[in-house]
Amino acid sequence: MIKAFILDLDGVITDTADFHFQAWKKCAASINITLDSTFNEQLKGISRLESLERILRSAGRQDDFTAIEKEQLANEKNNFYKSLLLQLTPDYILPGIRQLLTDIKDAGYKLGLASASKNAPTVLRALEIDGIFDGIADPNNVTNGKPAPDLFLQAAAKLGVRPVECIAIEDAKSGIEAINEAGMFSVGVGDRAFVQEADFLTSSTNELSLHSLIKAWQRKNGPE
Ligand code: BG6
Ligand code: MG
Repeated sequence: MIKAFILDLDGVITDTADFHFQAWKKCAASINITLDSTFNEQLKGISRLESLERILRSAGRQDDFTAIEKEQLANEKNNFYKSLLLQLTPDYILPGIRQLLTDIKDAGYKLGLASASKNAPTVLRALEIDGIFDGIADPNNVTNGKPAPDLFLQAAAKLGVRPVECIAIEDAKSGIEAINEAGMFSVGVGDRAFVQEADFLTSSTNELSLHSLIKAWQRKNGPE
């Protein structure tokens, strides 16, 4: 039986995935590393410090900086990212998502968030949807980030539901792996090259209706 829906934030609810990319590009450029959008796919869903490690490794520069310098670089990225967030308004909610959130709540399902971002509370406030979640996983409080299942499992625990009772939505490869590992029904949104391991694939958030998600779950699990 479906009891809850758990959503990723960046790239699913709002297009902050692009702000993260812009901020990393600027940060990387300051140390003479060029980032392209193909490489950026490997950063989606990945924590701030691990993202920096991946960027440095991609250029063979992982041993060029001390832990303190890495922390400073990550802080600079985050400060620029936060300056981009100042432009966020409810208009930045991706197409179809507001309706989906409303339908989930109206139908009596629980609603959870599983984002790796420590800026998630700020983003939700700027989008004016911070009050509607029943449980938000805290990235400060998990041992392993995505692709490990920890954030999704913590969100389910906060909602008081079992993983098999959850439908979870992600735009990143690391996120789909995390959902599958958690034992939830996975929904991938966006370029299918990155989310092909999902139980149900959609090419844009517009296709994420409550009806289509329940139907997809039933095709795999049988009628509720
Ligand atoms: C994820 C993003 O949601 O959060 C990643 O997809 C980002 O790109 C991660 O690195 C951590 O975000 P923050 O805001 O804590 O730096
Ligand atoms: Mg995402």
